[in-house]
Amino acid sequence: MAQNKKINRRNLPVILAVDDEPAVLASLEAILENDFEVLTASSAKEALEKINNQEVNLVFLDIAMPDMDGMQVLRRIKEYDQNLPVIIATASDSCRKAVEAMRAGASDYIVKPFDADEVVTVAKKALEQKELVKEVACLRSQREDIRFENIVGKSRKIKEVFAIIEKVIKTGATVLVSGESGTGKELIARAIHFNSARKEKPFIPINCAGIPESLLESELFGHEKGAFTDAVCQKLGMFELAGEGTLFLDEVSGLKFEVQANLLRALEEREIRRLGGTKLIRIDARIIAATNVDLSQAVREGKFRPDLYYRLNVVPIHLAPLRERREDIPLLVEHFLERYNKIFRKEIKGLTAEAMDYLCNYEWPGNVRELRNIIERMAALNDSGIIAPKDLPFDIFVKGSFIKGFKADGALRQASRDFERQYIEAVLERVEGNQVMAAKVLGIHRNALFNKMKILGLKK
Ligand SMILES: Nc1ncnc2c1ncn2[C@@H]1O[C@H](COP(=O)(O)OP(=O)(O)OP(=O)(O)O)[C@@H](O)[C@H]1O
Ligand SMILES: [Mg+2]
Repeated sequence: MAQNKKINRRNLPVILAVDDEPAVLASLEAILENDFEVLTASSAKEALEKINNQEVNLVFLDIAMPDMDGMQVLRRIKEYDQNLPVIIATASDSCRKAVEAMRAGASDYIVKPFDADEVVTVAKKALEQKELVKEVACLRSQREDIRFENIVGKSRKIKEVFAIIEKVIKTGATVLVSGESGTGKELIARAIHFNSARKEKPFIPINCAGIPESLLESELFGHEKGAFTDAVCQKLGMFELAGEGTLFLDEVSGLKFEVQANLLRALEEREIRRLGGTKLIRIDARIIAATNVDLSQAVREGKFRPDLYYRLNVVPIHLAPLRERREDIPLLVEHFLERYNKIFRKEIKGLTAEAMDYLCNYEWPGNVRELRNIIERMAALNDSGIIAPKDLPFDIFVKGSFIKGFKADGALRQASRDFERQYIEAVLERVEGNQVMAAKVLGIHRNALFNKMKILGLKK
């Protein structure tokens, strides 16, 4: 048994037992050492030093010691790291002390003399609770789009992406997802995480462009209490929160040069230090980065460090803009319609063929996100059970039309007239015949519209 313990130790949670009596420490060690790595300290000073300098997951603290004030030690520990669970040990007759300690942030208490099973159970419970807190934080960041099956598409380009995901989920390799805004970069990152061996671990996204530079490093690496003016207590960084999960570095191109250097160092060494801290903390998380600008271009322009670029660009995944994979549009429309039918409790059957044509012709500058938003809005507003061109947002109605339907065999003058007529007709239909509104949309004077309608033979 004793030999086995040594081998198992590496990944066991670490408990620090604090008591001034060597005999108590020895007995705690004996009780706990099967399930935990046990450290001991016989004074407040030694305890705080150990917490400071090495990984400690849980503290067992005797609250009633003759030569030091356990309550004060508890407060000091909590000040230092409010997330570190502390279990206090009290004598059977000091219920008041236990209550006071719980108020000061102790996770649980245990009465002396110890019952071995109870000690182990209480310790495990406290650790589980801490994990739960972590999980809640990470669940908040998880939305519905978490499954591989949620990525819709049948174009060659999206199928290529599926193929890379298939390969990459089997490894822990760093991935760089690129693509215009709204093409699904975060969706892909989540799909990789939630289909990989890390799926039970946290997926932690951090928007590198959205956080002020001064805060970003402490967000990434965490900080110790007092590391800077506002650091009133210790804080875990995203690297630590991600643990053995996935850290999603969104919009990496937004990183300032200096942060790029520190991030590179962390990734190269697979180790970080919290700001103001000395202890080295191992990084186990997989890194997925995303960018909506061309990072290699940013490197050429001297805005992004080439060494960091090569570190991140181990497996590149490029998401083509939606206008370059229009075959996916009908599938996406169907996918989102189904979703919003459910959400809004509607039974919209679909789009008329003509309305679908408009959507397929539109340029989609906001890509899939824009498509999703439009379907959401139309689903919310629709009462007729079917979406017709007149239900489409004006932009799409105008920009998504007129591309087809022209015979490329006539004189330009005739073609222009045909176009003008159709365009004005469409605008008039859209504004329900209101010529003042139509003139506004067309950017011409009312009288000019009136004249044009006459020339083109359009009825009022
Ligand atoms: N292929 C797809 N199938 C289904 N839904 C998709 C697809 N691509 C994107 N989406 C949806 O479109 C929306 C935008 O996607 P996402 O947030 O992943 O884009 P992004 O590339 O990260 O955008 P940004 O650069 O603006 O952050 C999300 O609701 C996502 O679920
Ligand atoms: Mg995104």
